[in-house]
Amino acid sequence: MSERDTHRTIPLTDLRNSGLALPRPTRSDVVRGELTDTRGRPLRDLRISVTDRCNFRCNYCMPKEVFDKDYAYLPHGDLLSFEEITRLARQFIAHGVQKIRLTGGEPLLRKNLERLIEQLAALRTLQGQPLDITLTTNGSLLARKAQSLKDAGLRRVTVSLDGLDDAVFRRMNDVDFPVADVLHGIEVARQVGLGQREGKPTGGLKVNMVVKRGSNDHEILRMARHFRGTGIVLRFIEFMDVGATNGWCMDEVVPSAEVVRRIHGEMPLLALEPCAAGETAQRWGYADAHGRHDTAAGEIGVISSVTQAFCSDCNRARLSTEGKLYLCLFAQHGFDLKPLLRGDASDEDIASVIGQIWQGRSDRYSELRSSLPPDAAGGARRVEMSYIGG
Ligand code: GTP
Ligand code: 5AD
Ligand code: SF4
Ligand code: SF4
Repeated sequence: MSERDTHRTIPLTDLRNSGLALPRPTRSDVVRGELTDTRGRPLRDLRISVTDRCNFRCNYCMPKEVFDKDYAYLPHGDLLSFEEITRLARQFIAHGVQKIRLTGGEPLLRKNLERLIEQLAALRTLQGQPLDITLTTNGSLLARKAQSLKDAGLRRVTVSLDGLDDAVFRRMNDVDFPVADVLHGIEVARQVGLGQREGKPTGGLKVNMVVKRGSNDHEILRMARHFRGTGIVLRFIEFMDVGATNGWCMDEVVPSAEVVRRIHGEMPLLALEPCAAGETAQRWGYADAHGRHDTAAGEIGVISSVTQAFCSDCNRARLSTEGKLYLCLFAQHGFDLKPLLRGDASDEDIASVIGQIWQGRSDRYSELRSSLPPDAAGGARRVEMSYIGG
C-alpha cells in the first residue's frame, strides 16, 4: 500500500478570508428594533466564538490530521477585543437578542474571559432583563475556573462529554484527556451554583454528547443512567456534516429516534413540551410508574439536525472569533463586521447593518441537506465549527 492510501486526505478550503459584502446603510434605511428574516424568524440567540483554538482534537470537529502543529490559527491582532465584542453584542441586543453563548474552540482558553462575562452581564435585553449568558466548554479547565466564571456573572454552563468509559473518552478527545477531570469540573460547576437556573436548584448544567456509531454509541445507556436524577440535562447530538474536515458519512449518524428507543427500553420516557420556540433539542422526560413525568429523575434531550431539521424557527446568529457574522452553522461565508468596529461607524450604523443582514437571511441548510446534490451542499466549502462556534 502506498503512503497515500494509508493517510486520510482531507480537503480543506480556508474560507476565513472570504467575506460577503456588507449592506451600506443610508439615513433612509436605518433598521431599528426587533426584526425577522425572510422566513419570519426573529433574532434571539447570539453565539460568540472567543478563540479558534482548542486543547482537544475531537475527530468530528478538529481532526488531528488538519489541526496539527502547522495549522495557522488566527493571529492575536485579528481577534475581537472584549470591548469590541461587547459593543457588537449591544447592537445585536437592540434587535432582540436575549441569550448569549460563548463558544470556541475552547472558550476557557481565552485569557481573562471573566472580564468579557462581566461586561456582557451588565447589558440588558430590550425588555430590561439580564441576558441568559452561557458557555460551551470541554470541561478540561472547568474545575479551575468555575468559581471565577460564576462570580463574573455566568449563569449556566454546558459541558461536552462523549462518554464515561475512560478509554472511549480519551479516544474521542484524541489527546488522551482523562474523563475523571471533566467529571470533576462538572461537580465543581455544580458546587459553585452554575447548576441552578432561574431560581430553581437544577437545570443550569447541561451535558452534550455527540453520538457516532461505532465510536461511542455503546455509551448511550451508561451516560443516561449516570445523569438520571442528578438535575443535569443530558443531550444526545446527531453527528453532523458541519465543516469540511470531519469525514462525515451517514453510516456514523445514530438517529435520535434510535437513541430514544434504546433508553426507553430500559428507562421509560415521555415527550415533553419545548421550553421555548426555536430550541435545538427535543425534550424527553423519565416516566414514573404511572406514566407521568418523574421530575426528580429529570429529562434528556435529543438534537436531530440530520434526521429532523429544526431550521424553521432557527433564531441563532454566530459571530466568529475575528468578527464575521454567520447566519447558519453551515454557511460558506460570513459578513465581516470588524472594519465597521475599527473604522468610524457609529453604533447606529452597526446596528443598521446587522439588522439589514438579518432581514435578508434565508438560510436553512439542514432542511435542504437531503435534497442538495453533494456538490451544491458545498461539503468542502464550509467554515469549521471551531472557528464560528457551535
Ligand atoms: P440551550 O440554550 O442550553 O438549550 O443551548 P442550545 O441547545 O441552543 O445550544 P448548544 O450549543 O448546547 O447546542 C447543542 C448542539 O446542537 C451544538 O453543539 C450543535 O451540535 C447543535 N446545534 C446548535 N445550534 C444549532 C443550529 O443552529 N443548527 C444546527 N444544525 N445544529 C445546532
Ligand atoms: N456534529 C455535531 N456536533 C458537533 N459539535 C462539534 N462538531 C460537531 C459535529 N460534527 C458540537 C458538539 C460539541 C460542541 C463544542 O460542538 O456539541 O460539544
Ligand atoms: Fe474542542 Fe469542542 Fe471541537 Fe472537541 S468539539 S475539538 S472540545 S471545540
Ligand atoms: Fe439554523 Fe442553519 Fe442550523 Fe438550520 S442548519 S438550524 S438554519 S444554523
